[in-house]
Amino acid sequence: MAETTYRNNCESRYTEKIESIEGGYCYEANRSHYWGPQELSLFFGTNLYRQSTPEQKLALNHLYWVTQYNQTAATEANAVLYNNVTEGVFSAVGGFGALCSELSLETEQEHQHIHAFHAIGYATRKALFGSERIVRPRLSSLSATSRRNTKNSSAPPSLLSLKIPALNWTKLQDEACRLMILKLSSGGGSCSYSDFLRSQQRSGKPIPVQRAGLLGQVVPASLSRIMTISFGASPFSACFFYAIRYLANILLKNYEHSYFQFHRSLERAGDFIPAPTAISYYHMLDESFHTTTSQLISQDLYKEFPRPTAYEHLMANLIFYRGQQMMLGGLSAVLPGIFRSDSTFILPLYQILRSSLYGLPHQEALYWLEQSLCQEHEGHHVNLKYHQKLHTTMRQAFKPMSYLWPINRELGLMASGASIVKSLRVNRQAFEAMRPTLAQLDQH
Ligand SMILES: [Fe+2]
Ligand SMILES: [Fe+2]
Repeated sequence: MAETTYRNNCESRYTEKIESIEGGYCYEANRSHYWGPQELSLFFGTNLYRQSTPEQKLALNHLYWVTQYNQTAATEANAVLYNNVTEGVFSAVGGFGALCSELSLETEQEHQHIHAFHAIGYATRKALFGSERIVRPRLSSLSATSRRNTKNSSAPPSLLSLKIPALNWTKLQDEACRLMILKLSSGGGSCSYSDFLRSQQRSGKPIPVQRAGLLGQVVPASLSRIMTISFGASPFSACFFYAIRYLANILLKNYEHSYFQFHRSLERAGDFIPAPTAISYYHMLDESFHTTTSQLISQDLYKEFPRPTAYEHLMANLIFYRGQQMMLGGLSAVLPGIFRSDSTFILPLYQILRSSLYGLPHQEALYWLEQSLCQEHEGHHVNLKYHQKLHTTMRQAFKPMSYLWPINRELGLMASGASIVKSLRVNRQAFEAMRPTLAQLDQH
């Protein structure tokens, strides 16, 4: 199975297509076209959207693409790291040559995808806003905190003040974690420890971690090294990473498939195909190989290895549970295909309303934000449709993973997020909490 995927992926030329489309991208040539179905637009279904000019509606459609692929790029950066970590486990165990080659190829492809998403996003924001400041929405505002925390994470200040040059505390902590996790993990201990992590440590580098993207957000900064070592410590935990990657693949496909169909309909009609639409189209084709790999490893391959220990079982379920809680536990009012609160989008949405695109004064921008986030509208119902489709697919995908707790296997937290009442309540709290910050911004 892995051989076939690798062969087909090698023969495909989708990544090269993405590269060449990215190289010729110019916003002006694409600005007067929709890049996807109209419903894939910021604020879709709100009164604000209804009253927007045709030019504003086009921009909201473009900004939706930019927002979604900015997040996709962050999550694919997670894949780059953890593909390497887990490929190192499969190569240490041995006998998985084709799978390792496929994982290396996928990692290379992700580098190119990330580059294209960033380049198109940057050029688009620049063309739309020039030097105006619009914050790039992140998966969670926690990321800033995480980065702050990591600054001092190599040693507590009291230890730093001792100034013992010979001691590398990060290295010591990494080694202690590694030994502890190997003891707690299944599958032959150090024999299956990731080649990749082993060589990182040999060359004196700290255990790599991710602060953004799906996994970077799901695990608190204090546990991120433990997660990296765990994924690299045993075949079971390496396979479990692909359950999370599979979740990300399905989440992406839930809206990317709409771009794929949009591309098809333009092609059939012989119409102009915007560059970002074409990038989504080829990306979905590239990702179909990645999805096959994620499915193969997370649904079947793990069964070939020793059963998870109590530690591995707990870690896998906690990571999955947090993933559901943070990424799937809500319903966005203004971004179809996003299933969490809009709290992290409030600032960039406010800035868009204040920018030259809308040119609204502070009070009016607040009024429209409140209307869009805290009052029921058509957009909620559009998003519920996406939610339902995703929930059905997810339940099907995770059913074979018998080690998952029922609330994880059946996506119980996700199911509880399909509520307009809950979305309005959570958004109301977030909106009121942001009011003072927005008022301060208005003063500057
Ligand atoms: Fe990708
Ligand atoms: Fe991928």
